[in-house]
Amino acid sequence: MEYSIEVMISKERIEKKIKELAAQIERDHKGKELIFIGLLKGSVIFMCDLIKEIKLPIFIDFMSVSSYGSGTKTTGIVKILKDIDFDVKDKELFIVEDIIDSGLTLKYVKDFLFAKGAAKVHICTLLDKPQRRKVDIKSDYVGFEIPDEFVVGYGLDYAQKHRNLPYVGKVVLRMKNEL
Ligand code: IMP
Ligand code: MG
Repeated sequence: MEYSIEVMISKERIEKKIKELAAQIERDHKGKELIFIGLLKGSVIFMCDLIKEIKLPIFIDFMSVSSYGSGTKTTGIVKILKDIDFDVKDKELFIVEDIIDSGLTLKYVKDFLFAKGAAKVHICTLLDKPQRRKVDIKSDYVGFEIPDEFVVGYGLDYAQKHRNLPYVGKVVLRMKNEL
């Protein structure tokens, strides 16, 4: 399918927002040791930029999860492809996500980490599409709320492409007769 990508959130706005989020996380967790768990692959770019701005002792880990279901439909049943390496018992965790859509993935991962004995599980997401929510889950730290549009860049993909764009862009499908 032919499509183009329109800038939705510029590189400069993302950089500014990350500094704000980092400052807020730092203020809220003074004197604490935190474990940041990035959900592969979408969160990688956001997580790297974010943790560099936080002046607290931070450990990092990653999880890879995939939701069952065909195409764009999420079912809420999540398969863990890569578990965390740390023992998170009694630890304070941050799940880092690129975007919250239905919320099903995050809900599953949050419950999974609590089941492993985590003391606290915070959520930090670059983007949030609140209109699409299917389960009641809120992110403690949100970069940008966006409308119900499909976006790519800054970690987010469309068929694994465009993750390295330095901005968040909206995917615009093009009609055949426009080409
Ligand atoms: P959820 O379980 O429905 O909240 O799924 C969230 C996941 O869906 C994200 O981690 C992304 O991988 C993917 N996703 C949701 N919306 C978009 C989008 O607009 N662009 C790219 N990936 C998306
Ligand atoms: Mg993802």
